[in-house]
Order: sequence, then C-alpha cells, then structure tokens
Amino acid sequence: MEKRDELYAGKAKSIFATDDPDLLIMHFRDDTSAFDGEKLEQLERKGLVNNKFNAFIMSRLRDAGVPVHFERLLGDQESLVKRLDMIPVECVVRNFAAGGLVRRLGVEEGRELSPATYELFLKNDALHDPLINESVSITLGYATEQQLEEAKALSFKVNEVLTAIFRDAGILLVDYKLEFGVHNGQLMLGDEFSPDGARLWDAETREKLDKDRFRKGLGGVIEAYEEVGRRIGVTFD
Ligand SMILES: Nc1ncnc2c1ncn2[C@@H]1O[C@H](COP(=O)(O)OP(=O)(O)O)[C@@H](O)[C@H]1O
Ligand SMILES: [Mg+2]
Repeated sequence: MEKRDELYAGKAKSIFATDDPDLLIMHFRDDTSAFDGEKLEQLERKGLVNNKFNAFIMSRLRDAGVPVHFERLLGDQESLVKRLDMIPVECVVRNFAAGGLVRRLGVEEGRELSPATYELFLKNDALHDPLINESVSITLGYATEQQLEEAKALSFKVNEVLTAIFRDAGILLVDYKLEFGVHNGQLMLGDEFSPDGARLWDAETREKLDKDRFRKGLGGVIEAYEEVGRRIGVTFD
C-alpha cells in the first residue's frame, strides 16, 4: 500500500490518498480540539490511543454486521479505510442526558433517556454544528430519505452492540456521534469511534472518562481514554 498526497487535514486527523482509488489512509494526529476548533492542544499519545481504540470498536461493529469503512491498522497512528463520499450530517444517540441536550432543554445531567434519543446536526464548524432534522436534510440535499433511514437504523444497531461492550466493562455509554458515507452505493459507518466523539462515564462513580475532561480542563485526558480502552480489551502497545 503506497501512501500518496494528503487530501484533507481536519481538526484531529489527516486523510491521505493511496495507490488504490478505493482506499484512504486515516492518520490520527495528537491534536485535540473542542468548541468547534476554538480550543486546540497537542496531547502526547492521543493519535495512537484513538487509532487503536477506533480499530477495536470498528472491528467489533463489523463482526456484529455493521458496514464500516475500517479495513485494517497500518501503524500506531494510521489505519486503512474505504474512501467514502461523506454525508455532512452528524448522527447523535443519547442514553443519558449530557452536553447539548442539557444546555438546550434544561434536562438534568445524567438522567437516563429511555428510549435513547436520536438527533441530527449539520457538520459545519463555522455554524457551530446546528441541530437539523430529516426534512431539512432531504430538502437541502445533505442526504436522501433512504440514507437517513439507514443511518438511523445503523446508529441504533451500534447502540445495541456498544452499550453491551461498555456495560460489561463497568462503563456507561452516555452518548456518541457517528458520521456515515457512501461507498459504491452502500451506506457505511465512517470517521472514528473514540472517547473524542462519545461520552463515557464510570458506571459506579460517574467519573467522566472522555473528551469532556479536555473541554472542562480536568486533566488526565489520555489516561482516561486508555483506562476505558484497557477495560474493554484494547491493546495499545
Ligand atoms: N472513509 C472516509 N472517506 C472520506 N472522508 C472521510 C472518511 N472517514 C472520515 N472522513 C472525513 O475525514 C475527516 C477526518 O478528520 P477530522 O480531523 O475528524 O476532521 P474534521 O475536523 O472535519 O472533523 C472528517 O471530515 C471526516 O468526515
Ligand atoms: Mg472530526
């Protein structure tokens, strides 16, 4: 697999072309950002930790029948993925109230949400990822009705699989964001699943073990990511 030009550098990852037009290399950098890119820092080992965390989760999802872009690990900070035409919509599933839901609706943080909620946000930092819905997405051409239906079904399938994995490790899967894209006409899960895009709390103490540690300046960010990984069975070295 030959690595070619950098196609895109996002807030946390860089995407490279390969000699195969169907495949891309996703490079996880140590950069950490929050508040739509306003707070930016380098955290040592973050690229490695998120790359291996994501590889583990994507493999478990694939085993459970979820179509995923992840092909294989290439190195400490790189994975091979299928090239997708990304849908610019972030799909968010919540099992407990936190973050934006608490701010918008005044719900008490930590309240269990049953059944789990499902929200769509436009992926647009300049607009601060505004809340949208299926009707807006269809009319403005972000996605088709069928893609949105499939993305929703897959988002809940992911919830079933991952809630169980984290529960068995004494961790609450509070909420998470997924990005989907299309490869050869098939909708599949793209981007990453890591503590950067999910809220994960210790089930006993409700200690935050995810990117909220960075947002709130609590410290021990990567240590927490590794602790979660270690508990679910990710190997980092
Ligand atoms: N398989 C894929 N094919 C093409 N683009 C992808 C794929 N998976 C993720 N992406 C996109 O690559 C970028 C990943 O880098 P990231 O640092 O997360 O960027 P951003 O700041 O835009 O969120 C995202 O824009 C994401 O939508
Ligand atoms: Mg991103």
